[in-house]
Amino acid sequence: MLNTPAFVVDTLALTRNAAILREVAERSGARMLLALKAFSMPAAAPYLYFEGTCASSVHEAMLGMEAFGGEQHAFAAAFSEADMRALMQLGIHHVTLNSFAQLRQWRRIAAELGHTSTQIGLRINPEHSEGQVPIYDPCAPHSRLGIRKVAFEGEDLSDISGLHCHNLCEQNADCFARTLKAIEEKFGDLLPQIKWFNFGGGHHITRDDYDRELLISTLQEFHKRYPHITYYLEPGEAHVLNAGTFVCRVLDVVENAGPIAILDGSAACHTPDVIEMPYTPRVFTDPHWSGESMPSPTALRAGQPGEHAIDVRLAGPSCLAGDCFGDYSFDRVPAPGDLLYFEDMALYTMVKTNTFNGIHLPDLVLRTAPKTFKVVRTFGYEDFRSRL
Ligand SMILES: Cc1ncc(COP(=O)(O)O)c(C=O)c1O
Repeated sequence: MLNTPAFVVDTLALTRNAAILREVAERSGARMLLALKAFSMPAAAPYLYFEGTCASSVHEAMLGMEAFGGEQHAFAAAFSEADMRALMQLGIHHVTLNSFAQLRQWRRIAAELGHTSTQIGLRINPEHSEGQVPIYDPCAPHSRLGIRKVAFEGEDLSDISGLHCHNLCEQNADCFARTLKAIEEKFGDLLPQIKWFNFGGGHHITRDDYDRELLISTLQEFHKRYPHITYYLEPGEAHVLNAGTFVCRVLDVVENAGPIAILDGSAACHTPDVIEMPYTPRVFTDPHWSGESMPSPTALRAGQPGEHAIDVRLAGPSCLAGDCFGDYSFDRVPAPGDLLYFEDMALYTMVKTNTFNGIHLPDLVLRTAPKTFKVVRTFGYEDFRSRL
């Protein structure tokens, strides 16, 4: 019996995603990295397919080296001087810098430390938007992410071995193909002189309707044009898509223009993207749940409001009025003690949790076989206190 709330990561689903990513990497020639920002549970590493990781900070880089292995890449909108020193001391293999001022700072520190082993790349902004939502569009007007072509004028690129472009968010291969075209149009003159290109994340490669053949052929064509360039993909979500469940228990049901079920899981503390993005996660109930991340035939999926007999709002226990997962409909109002299962909850969840209100952090659990659970981590008062 699991304690709640809990994030349950289904290793069988991870293995399925890993097989897809492996095939894409092998056929396209891309080296596949894991973006640790989306998911970085060390216990799950053996079930993933990656040739290295990309970090957004020194701490993620340390974790990548300690728990994941392979090639270590790092990018941040800006690194402090201390961050740069730490990355060099860690021996990071690739660093991607976001401005020429950062590049000059890196060069100065590297010269002082005699550090030469890191491959240096620059993040570019191809000024080509594929995203509809500005906060997830690195090419939106006024974006701070990536260097625009105009800023390259007169700069010394002698020690630059690679370029990086992250332009997608949960997108299909057609978006990547158009982005690549924009990159080649704008930055084509730099491609003969670089050794590697990192095409970022946001490629939803493991999604059912993702056009993997288009991704593979687009990369194969790129390779024909630039055989000297090693290219990387660094998805996060695609590694763990549909591979995790957030298990919550109903604590109480209150009434205000309809029933509101208050859960022991909090949208604000445990799944902040539900509020930030925002989105309404899929939910199901299943008295025979085996831990599978996708609902089984015995599961009852919560509907949209109006679809089933009764509309119910699912909400968290915190003081935040907006701590809500969303409005759903069920055949009956969930009762205190009932378990509810939120789908697709491995990505951008446990990496983003917080202890606002002192609310208990969810257990982290691996499901290794049907009805077989391994509790990897539980949290208590000390985890709350030690951060304050
Ligand atoms: C630079 C960079 N790389 C990789 C990723 C991972 O993206 P995703 O998890 O959507 O695949 C992100 C996400 O924001 C990113 O900013």
